[in-house]
Amino acid sequence: MKTVKDYIRTIVDFPHEGIMFRDVTTLFSDPRGFRMCIDQILNPYAGTRIDKVAGLEARGFIIGGAIAHQLSVGFTPIRKKGKLPGATLSQAYQLEYGEAVMEIHDDAIQPGEKVLLVDDLLATGGTAQAGIQLIEKLGGEIVGCAFIVDLPELGGRAKLEAMGMDVHILCE
Ligand code: PRP
Ligand code: ADE
Repeated sequence: MKTVKDYIRTIVDFPHEGIMFRDVTTLFSDPRGFRMCIDQILNPYAGTRIDKVAGLEARGFIIGGAIAHQLSVGFTPIRKKGKLPGATLSQAYQLEYGEAVMEIHDDAIQPGEKVLLVDDLLATGGTAQAGIQLIEKLGGEIVGCAFIVDLPELGGRAKLEAMGMDVHILCE
């Protein structure tokens, strides 16, 4: 039987020479693969209260929407600067070269809401860290951070665990 990892394709030298890009579109486009991925992300949270799912742009929206639908809870997008139409909170984070900014609508999460944060891939953890900071600034309580792929040599899991996060990742 195929595993989630078997459905993920690697594109060499995208977007730059030397990068092995882990492409989850092949996982999402397969009906068995996509269902397996959503089911496996949700497994450890059976019996856990989750009030809202937050997804990181862009591929976190695809899994976050499916997970929120499965749980019958709402979904909140955390987007790159300038994309959200309403009043936002902003959080800068480090890229390999320079800085970027993620934003969340300032009314997207109510204080005390239990939030599951999701994205496709964890690399340095900078994007997820910004998402965590935004959710916590609004008073959300993060019950877990879930990803499909970890790139362990980049240290993202250690960064999030050092922030006290419960991290769940399907494959390396
Ligand atoms: C990728 C990935 C994560 C992020 C992980 O997104 O989908 O969101 O990088 O990297 P980090 O752990 O080092 O922060 P990308 O920034 O390529 O944006 P996109 O999804 O909008 O293409
Ligand atoms: N984001 C950062 N590094 C990545 C990689 N190797 N594949 C896909 N997304 C990424």
